[in-house]
Amino acid sequence: MDDLVQLTRDNEIAIITINNPPVNVLSPTVAQNIAKAIERVGSDDSLNAAVLIGAGRTFIAGADIKELSKITSGKTQRREGLLPLLRQIEDLKKPVVVAIHGNAFGGGLELAMAGHYRVAHSNTQLGQTEVKLGIIPGAGGTQRLPRLVGIAKAVEMCAEGNLINAQEALKFGLVDRLIEGDLLAEGVRFAREVSGKTPPKTRERNEKLGTPEHNEPLFAAAREKACAKQRGMMAPFAAIDAVEAATRLPFDEGCEVEKKLFRECLFSDQSKALIHLFFGEREVAKIPDVPKDTPIIPINSAAVVGAGTMGGGIAMVFANAGIAVLLKDADQPALDRGLDTIRKNYHSSVKRGRVTQQFVDERLKLIQPTLTYDDFGKVDMVIEAVFEGMALKKEVFAQLDRVCQKGAILASNTSTLNIDEIASATSRPEAVIGTHFFSPANVMRLLEIVRGKWTSKEVIATCMQLSKKLGKIGVLVGNCRGFVGNRMFHHYVREAVFLVEEGATPQAVDQALSDFGMALGPLATGDLAGLDVGWRIRKEYRHLEKPGVRQPVVGDRLCELGRYGQKTGAGWYKYDENRRAIPDPEANELVRKWAIEAGIPQRHISSEEIVERCIYALVNEGARIIEEGIALRAGDIDIIYVNGYGFPAYRGGPMWYADTVGLKKVYERICEFHREFGELWEPAPLLTRLVEEGKTFGEFTSVQTVMA
Ligand code: NAI
Repeated sequence: MDDLVQLTRDNEIAIITINNPPVNVLSPTVAQNIAKAIERVGSDDSLNAAVLIGAGRTFIAGADIKELSKITSGKTQRREGLLPLLRQIEDLKKPVVVAIHGNAFGGGLELAMAGHYRVAHSNTQLGQTEVKLGIIPGAGGTQRLPRLVGIAKAVEMCAEGNLINAQEALKFGLVDRLIEGDLLAEGVRFAREVSGKTPPKTRERNEKLGTPEHNEPLFAAAREKACAKQRGMMAPFAAIDAVEAATRLPFDEGCEVEKKLFRECLFSDQSKALIHLFFGEREVAKIPDVPKDTPIIPINSAAVVGAGTMGGGIAMVFANAGIAVLLKDADQPALDRGLDTIRKNYHSSVKRGRVTQQFVDERLKLIQPTLTYDDFGKVDMVIEAVFEGMALKKEVFAQLDRVCQKGAILASNTSTLNIDEIASATSRPEAVIGTHFFSPANVMRLLEIVRGKWTSKEVIATCMQLSKKLGKIGVLVGNCRGFVGNRMFHHYVREAVFLVEEGATPQAVDQALSDFGMALGPLATGDLAGLDVGWRIRKEYRHLEKPGVRQPVVGDRLCELGRYGQKTGAGWYKYDENRRAIPDPEANELVRKWAIEAGIPQRHISSEEIVERCIYALVNEGARIIEEGIALRAGDIDIIYVNGYGFPAYRGGPMWYADTVGLKKVYERICEFHREFGELWEPAPLLTRLVEEGKTFGEFTSVQTVMA
């Protein structure tokens, strides 16, 4: 045994401590060492029982995810996994009390359930979280959990991957006692109470497994829910099947079913994609030229300028993180509207049971409305979220430059404008950065952090760290029109509109992409965001359009008729009073007429072509973005698309998806589009090069550091 697992004793009680910082990941070596400790406890007659506990801030946060990738890539042969260890613990003749604090997730919870008793600190969170990685528990979790908590709860936990807290775990029988004080001392005390008793084996406890009549509707409901809420994913169904096996088969046979389903999931593209995103989410924090020890500016207070859609949401984000925030607007009615929306949003969260009224009252106290810049001199950071227009933004930044203290961060929430030009309105461009939140800001996890050419490393490092504190995933991007997300989205939506002009209905386009897994089709998304937004931008940038290059026409015509989308009751679709989209034959006919007038030949378009045109448009532009160093890695683009644009996580993001399809295949299709539709489809040089070299986006590392 080495330092990873220690065996000590408190008189006749053995203490097995897992010490694999930071989160006690259950690596194969840790498992081997636990097995050795259990063996010693068994053979030492002076020991009556054991307490198994985690050192540091948590019990076991899960199995080693790196091991999973090694198995699927063929680098490691999967041995028997954890099953033999768990059986060894369960078969020990002396009681094993598992003492849990912090997190017991995935393999950690499976290990805990093999113990004879569980005690948990009241701060504990427990969950079979595997489904979030596209897999299911693989060490008996789907067989032991229903035996402890019953079918309904086990199905929910395994299929949805949700966490439960210690109080709920006690209620459902997953833990036997809650502990407030010293977990180890209380764990040992508990072990003394039960020592001498025959240790109960979880796998032999069948009293909560229910009857077929009782269980069938539960499984049916769970499958229906998975169809609706986890559209396109296979792991939730595998998890439900595995729990169902627990109700029909003896434990060992149930484990065999689980193992088979586990392997099917593990080797699926879905699980590989989700594991890619798991690591990608950690990778985004690494910025080659902004080292880890870059000094951080403490952010204890903030101010937001503009209390509109975005400003209000951003103020909530700061308040939710416990940071006091000033919220400024230009006039009283706008400020009142902003505050009203904030209150409504909080109210609906209370109604849905997400937060308590007390939580909301505390947050609201942190949001201080104002019409002046009087208190701006005291804050550590300002986020500007006024109307999108360069002249106004520059005016606001010049004002901020006058009133803000030295060292304060001056951030803009602009979605398209040039950060350097905004920064030029100040005497301290090194303090200026883009923090591009997504709508609704208090819900969406993505935060694009835009590096200007003068932005200091301290300001970048602070914003990256702050994103975590705000519950966001910060991704550093370069300064160009639309940054990463919107720049790519522009190409995606362009193709969607072209497809409609060529003969597909808006419904057909949206349906094909929704079937692909997008949260919402591109045209419905346009209706939601407001078609007038893009229309205004197009008008502003018309002078940049290349003559002879095809431009979408029908979207602008809809706007000319006042069809801006949901907010005017009609856009590509019409909307009822509940803002439900209804296909609109009138719009479809108009669009058809305009397209024919514009000389666009009409034809039938397959859903396959719809998906390829829209998704490969993302991929091709994404390749340019990586090559230009606007994104650091292909994985960063994937994180942006999954967290900000509703790209299906189980496909890993657009760049990962392209790698999965095969870059050669993607490239060849893009070449066909190039021949057919002209220069907008010119293959990105990086894509061409990777195909020539037989490489993937995942293998390509940009030589530049970030950009600006
Ligand atoms: P909005 O129109 O809802 O809100 C803008 C607010 O700024 C209004 O309340 C207005 O009264 C206020 N304002 C205007 N001039 C001001 C001044 N001089 N001082 C103080 N307040 C002033 O606009 P929205 O949608 O919140 O957009 C704000 C910014 O966020 C824009 O730059 C936009 O491009 C960007 N953005 C918008 C997203 C969206 O989905 N709406 C998504 C991401 C970024």
